[in-house]
Order: sequence, then C-alpha cells, then structure tokens
Amino acid sequence: MTDPTLYPCFLGPYGENDDLLEKLVVEFLRDHVYWRRNFHPEDPPAIPTRAAKQPQFLSFEARLRRELHALSASLKRSVPFHSPRYLGHMVSDVLLPGLAAQMLTLPYNPNNVSEDAAPVTVDLEVQVGLQLARLIGYRHDPAQPDCAFGHLTSGGTLANFQALRLALALKAFPVALRAVAPIEIGLPEDDWTAFNLAPDAATALLVRWQDWLASLPLGERNRWTAAVEAQRLESLGLCDFFARHPQLQPPIVLTPLSAHYSWPKGLKLLGLGADRAVPVAQQDMRVDLGALEEALERAQAARQPVLMTVAVLGTTEFGAIDPVDGIVALRDRYAAAGLGFAVHVDAAWGGYLATLFREPGGGLRPREAIAADFANFPAPRVHAAMAALCRTDSVTIDPHKLGYMPYGAGAFVCKDHRPMSLLAVEADYVFTRAASEDYLARYRQLGRYIPEGSKPGAMAAAVYVTHRVLPLDHCNFGRIPAQTLRATEAFVARAAQFAAECAHLVHACVPFAPDSNLVCLALNPCGNTSISGLNEFVGRLHDEVRIDPTAPLQLREFFASTTRLRIDILNRDTALRLLKRLQLLPAPQEAGESLLILRHTLMNPFLLDAENDISYVDRYFKFLTRRITALCAGVTASTHSNDSMVA
Ligand SMILES: Cc1ncc(COP(=O)(O)O)c(C=O)c1O
Repeated sequence: MTDPTLYPCFLGPYGENDDLLEKLVVEFLRDHVYWRRNFHPEDPPAIPTRAAKQPQFLSFEARLRRELHALSASLKRSVPFHSPRYLGHMVSDVLLPGLAAQMLTLPYNPNNVSEDAAPVTVDLEVQVGLQLARLIGYRHDPAQPDCAFGHLTSGGTLANFQALRLALALKAFPVALRAVAPIEIGLPEDDWTAFNLAPDAATALLVRWQDWLASLPLGERNRWTAAVEAQRLESLGLCDFFARHPQLQPPIVLTPLSAHYSWPKGLKLLGLGADRAVPVAQQDMRVDLGALEEALERAQAARQPVLMTVAVLGTTEFGAIDPVDGIVALRDRYAAAGLGFAVHVDAAWGGYLATLFREPGGGLRPREAIAADFANFPAPRVHAAMAALCRTDSVTIDPHKLGYMPYGAGAFVCKDHRPMSLLAVEADYVFTRAASEDYLARYRQLGRYIPEGSKPGAMAAAVYVTHRVLPLDHCNFGRIPAQTLRATEAFVARAAQFAAECAHLVHACVPFAPDSNLVCLALNPCGNTSISGLNEFVGRLHDEVRIDPTAPLQLREFFASTTRLRIDILNRDTALRLLKRLQLLPAPQEAGESLLILRHTLMNPFLLDAENDISYVDRYFKFLTRRITALCAGVTASTHSNDSMVA
C-alpha cells in the first residue's frame, strides 16, 4: 500500500497538493519580481502604470487570455500521465520539487551553454552529474583527477549519442597521436594496438600526452597540439581517417537485440552507419554472455575493432536488466587480449532503480536487505548487475523517466572526466579559456563538451533541487521505485490469477518476468492458433486502451501501450515455450512474424491506493476481463470464415 512519505512528493492524481504548489509558485514569482526591482532600483519603470488601462494593452490582454484559454482547453485532451489509470509509456506524474524548481527558474531563463549565460544553473548541472555519478558508484569527488563527469541532455537518445561520440574520440585519439607525436611519451607500437586500447589505457595515454604538452613553452605546445588535431578522426572525418590507416576498419558496436532505436539513430548521426550495430543474441530478453563472447571472438579473429558493448538496464519493451557484471568481465578479458572496447550502460529507463541499492552513506546495500521489502525483487543477477555499474565506462540515465522530471531531461555520465577534453570545441565569443584547470571552472564552459549549444538551465535546477530534497538513496528517492516495484509484483501475481480465471476465454501469460516496473502481457483467444489471429485480437483490445485524440479521455477506463515480440529473435526453446503457453501453432509461413502484446509501464506511485483501499492493478485486470469477455464473443463470430483461425 502507499508509502505515506510519498504524499507530499507529487501534485497528486486529484491535484491534492494544489495548495502547496500554488503557494510556492506565487511566493517565488513575487520573489523574482523583487529581484528585478532590486537590480538597479534607481531605474524607473519603463512600462507606465497607466499603460494597463490603455486600449492597446487591454486588447492585447484580451487576445492573450483568449489564446491561453484555448490552449488550456485543448490541453485537457492531453494524456493523463498523472493518473494511476495510465499504464502506457515511460511517464507518470512529475515530482513537485522538480516542477516547482523549474517554474521558479523559468523567468530567469538561464542558458546552460556556459557560465556566461548561466552563472548559477550551469554549476547545478555539473553537481547533478556528480549526484548521478555517486548513484552509479563512480568516483564523484572533483578533487580526484579521475573524477566522473555527467551532464543533462534533451533525453536518452542524445545521452546515448554522447556515449558513442566520446568512445569514438577516445578510441581514435591514440592513432592520431602515433602519427605525429614523439615516441618518448610511450606510444602504442602499431595502429591496430593504438585503436584497440582499453578505455583506461587510452585515457592514461591522453594524460601522458597532456602532461608532456604542459611541460613545453606555449608556442611549441600550440604547434604539437595543432599537429595532432590535424590527424584526429574528428578533423579528418571517417573517410580520410580510415584511408590514412588502411589496416584499420571502422569499429562495430555490439548491441543487445532489445536495444532502443536510439542506437541505430546515433550510429547514423556519427556517420558510422546503422549497420555497424551488431546485434547480440539474448536469453529471455537479456544479453546472452555466451553469444557476446562468440561475437567478440569473431571480431578478434577478423581484426574487426569494437567501439563498445551496450548493456541495457531496463529494456524499453520488457524492463529486463542485462548482466552488466558479466559484460565488464568480458571487456577486461578482451582488453588483456588486445581487443579494447568501452562498456556503456543504457539505463535511460532503469537507472533510478539504483537508488534502492544505495545506502545514504554511499555504500551498496546487500541484496538481502533490499529483498526484505519485496516478494522476489531483486534477483541475485539484478543485484550483481547494479553492483557492477561502477565498473562500466559510461551510463545513460534519464531524469525524465524514473526520475519523474518534466521532459526533457536525459543524462550522460562517464566514469572518468578526462577524455571529455577530446570533445572540446572552441568558440571565442562564448567560451572563455579557463584560467585554471579546475574541474568546475572547466565544465562551466559546458557547451564546449556536449552535443547541444543553448540548453535550459531551468531543467538543471529542477533535477538538482529534486536530488537535494530526495537524495538518491533507498531512504529517500528509493522509496518511489520501491513503491512501484511492489505494484509491479502485485501486477505479475494478479496477471497469473487473471490467466487462471480467464482460461476459458484466453491463454494469457507474462512472456518474460520483468526485472523492473515494466510488464508485458501476451494474450491469445482460446481456439485461435495463428499469430495473425492473436494480433487481430490484441489489436482490437489495444483500440480500447490507446490514446484516441478524437474521443473524450473520460471514455477510456485505462491506458496501456503495445509492442511487438519478434519470434525470430528468440532462441528456439524460448520461442517454442512461448508459443506453447499461448497455444499457437508455429506455422512455417509465419516465421519472422511478431506477436502484438500489451505493454504496461507501472510507475505511478498511487497504483495501490491505501487511502481509499483501491488497487488500480486489480481494477485493470477486472476491466481486461470484461473487455475480453465482450471481445471474445465478437472475435469468434467474426473469424469463423477466417482460415487462419482454428475453432
Ligand atoms: C532503454 C532506452 N534508451 C534510450 C531511450 C531514449 O530516450 P528518449 O526518448 O528520452 O530519447 C529510451 C526511451 O524509451 C529507452 O527506453
């Protein structure tokens, strides 16, 4: 049932905390106005008081009000993300601290491109990066030379792109260095070795190079810097770089089959091409370490460089968590064998679950202590994956998903900040050359290192304040995922009950036990043995739970999403087991087909409403039972003539 400490955290499904939010908005709007008035109080008001009575002013205000009313009215057709009846995509109510901090900051309109445009909020963004680094288990003390670094992005897509960009810059840099730098800094013996250093070794080389440069007089330093810059992949472009190094092939990226579509997007953007993403087979929707090892073995035999291996912490479609621990172990083994690559964790969805695994002091909680609050969570392999996050090279983690922040707030965090210097782009009009190499001074020039230029400081303020009000440990923020994981366990148990109760109507199952709060449900009407029949049935069910912009929201009882489960990406045993559970015949003409399944994102903290003794999980399954009962009659009637259906 609901953890009462969560009551003040959200505006609430019924707008219960309206009074608190209203007081905060008014208080800090006034505060902002006083700030304007106190800037140079001797400057008189530029807009005269009488202006508010003039016809042009009044007609402007009337037009403004009319448009705002129209906007407000049309927004009533928005998706009710705040409601526990919304089980669709990766979004729910936003946290009140973030909403209030963002609204408070908006009129100041800071631009986090650099301290020049955001003297306050750019620092907050750097602090957010350190807060997230601590959550992951990376070194987060800027006084340490290898401290982590993180920044916000518009979303997970751009954070994943930043991971690719950084990994490629670090991979290719030693090759550029070899082409011109003096041997005394300790260069790799050939291009292949240079291109296949482990990220840590490449970083160490970069640091040696920077230290050597620093020992030179300015003119000489500039000449050497320019010479290496001219050899870098980022200067030459992919074509020229690989033409100059014919013994090297462009690298591949090993991605789980379940990876998000931002990965092919990122590879296209980088110019490597989406085909450079090599899918790794999975076992029950998690990376199969045996298959990954075979892929690495093949790469090494073919002298095919690997840029990175991606692990997903909470897959988009099944909420599954990849064996991060096994993947970093393979990285270390292959690095020792001369095939270095980075490990990036795409924790866009599941990253904030790590709050449940953190002690307030920063330590990792033992599995048993976490498990005491749940029926099954966390599986030992989930705990091992979380514990291994600190050994990865970089992580994507989205505040606008399980961090309950308004859009758009993704985040990228890398284990060691030093390679970020390889991404630096100069622009004299906005970036001042840091007088010191101090960590904070450097990253106050944020736009130098990130894909974006201008970016909202209000978002950094929102995330920072939220992490301060709800620190990222199990006693504070972790209470939110704990609540929704309890709802997830209730959902999985209720799904089994539903499957038994409706066995005369449908064959139903959760195809893969989730590791996070995202659960799919596969359904096949009794008597149907074809995939097309199943898809038609689930498609009709989806019509009853999807957003329909033409119909009033209130006509919908619940919202859910769907996805397609491709049979051909499953291993044979898993596929046969699933088809059998759903009583489907694997017809040869249907090879490569996919099953339409219902997908539920269970992140609303009020799914189990203690105050009113309501379980929206239970209500959802009662709703499904009613709709399926009605649909089954229809399906049977309409498909008698359909050859694909077996009555
Ligand atoms: C695992 C994963 N990575 C990346 C993304 C992309 O995030 P965004 O939509 O914020 O760009 C998503 C989005 O659902 C995701 O689930």
